[in-house]
Amino acid sequence: MKALILVGGFGTRLRPLTLSYPKPLVDFANKPMILHQIEALEAIGVTEVVLAISYQPEGMLNFLKEFEKKLGIKITCSQETEPLGTAGPLALARDYLVDGSGEPFFVLNSDVISEYPLKQMIEFHKSHGGEASIMVTKVDEPSKYGVVVLEESTGQVERFVEKPKLFVGNKINAGIYLLDPSVLDRIELRPTSIEKEVFPKIAKEKKLYAMVLPGFWMDIGQPRDYITGLRLYLDSLKKKSSPKLAFGPHIIGNVLVDESATIGEGCLIGPDVAIGPGCVVESGVRLSRCTVMRGVRIKKHACVSSSIIGWHSTVGQWARVENMTILGEDVHVGDEIYTNGGVVLPHKEIKSSILKPEIVM
Ligand code: GDD
Ligand code: MG
Repeated sequence: MKALILVGGFGTRLRPLTLSYPKPLVDFANKPMILHQIEALEAIGVTEVVLAISYQPEGMLNFLKEFEKKLGIKITCSQETEPLGTAGPLALARDYLVDGSGEPFFVLNSDVISEYPLKQMIEFHKSHGGEASIMVTKVDEPSKYGVVVLEESTGQVERFVEKPKLFVGNKINAGIYLLDPSVLDRIELRPTSIEKEVFPKIAKEKKLYAMVLPGFWMDIGQPRDYITGLRLYLDSLKKKSSPKLAFGPHIIGNVLVDESATIGEGCLIGPDVAIGPGCVVESGVRLSRCTVMRGVRIKKHACVSSSIIGWHSTVGQWARVENMTILGEDVHVGDEIYTNGGVVLPHKEIKSSILKPEIVM
């Protein structure tokens, strides 16, 4: 079976992290976002993944070559010369996706995180006989997504409305599709949107079906949602009694600590924290609801909450980093500094406190 991951897009909403790496390579729960997806695909028997890329392909490919071997999966890259939207890349990758077997293929948005019930999706697709299956999930704020109105008993999609201005429903497109090769005949090789131009038509012909996604789901393409997504992801590990979760007297709630990270005396860590490889957390540190990426040092008695600390950054002694502060790669926060939200671009040094959320360039 084959799959295509929509990797393109500049990931502007996840800056400053995406100034250092393309969005799919930004770590989530201690591994690049895209690996969560590739591993889930591999686990259900996908043998070839096509990455539809419109931006920075070299970094991605070099990184993924390593996993091609480890996972025994073929990873190819289909590169656009201009961004083709969410449907155009499928037309471009047509030759990779179609092999004459008539088998459906998966398409994934690269910034969604869930438990990926892909086996169930295959069963669902076989059962309804339509042309395309999509996963949907319920959210409180549907207007920033594609809203799907479906016939509850069969799952047949009546309407698909991308980013509606008025309320149409609260089930939204989760960005995980299983499509018959015939869907490709509906897509031209030009910049085009699968949500606005393809799905509404298939729905009209009553050939689009939606399955309600069991378990959690989050689009982690924005900092606030990324932090919420980590909580949901860790919670799902907890429900599965995953051995990956840390435990001990210094841990509160759900916490991931990479085995190569070191934690000093008298720290209090959690809930909802991920500490990446090679991190050094010195003594007396307090961390909650945050991600500390690879190679970071948090110095003595610092306190970090509801924030993301980018790769190889440092947080000084007695510093306090909170309220959605997002530090890019290699940022250095001085001793006793307070940051109350905001975005700090890579390679900066913070010598005075940031009292209200701002962009530090
Ligand atoms: N190759 C390629 N080329 N990929 C692209 C391009 C492009 O020109 N533009 C966007 N993508 C990729 C993004 O990287 C992402 O993986 C996916 O397509 C969706 O784009 P987003 O920019 O993240 O869209 P969104 O989050 O506003 O909305 C989409 O996702 C929602 C769920 O998170 C839509 O599919 C909505 O219907 C859906 O509800
Ligand atoms: Mg998105």
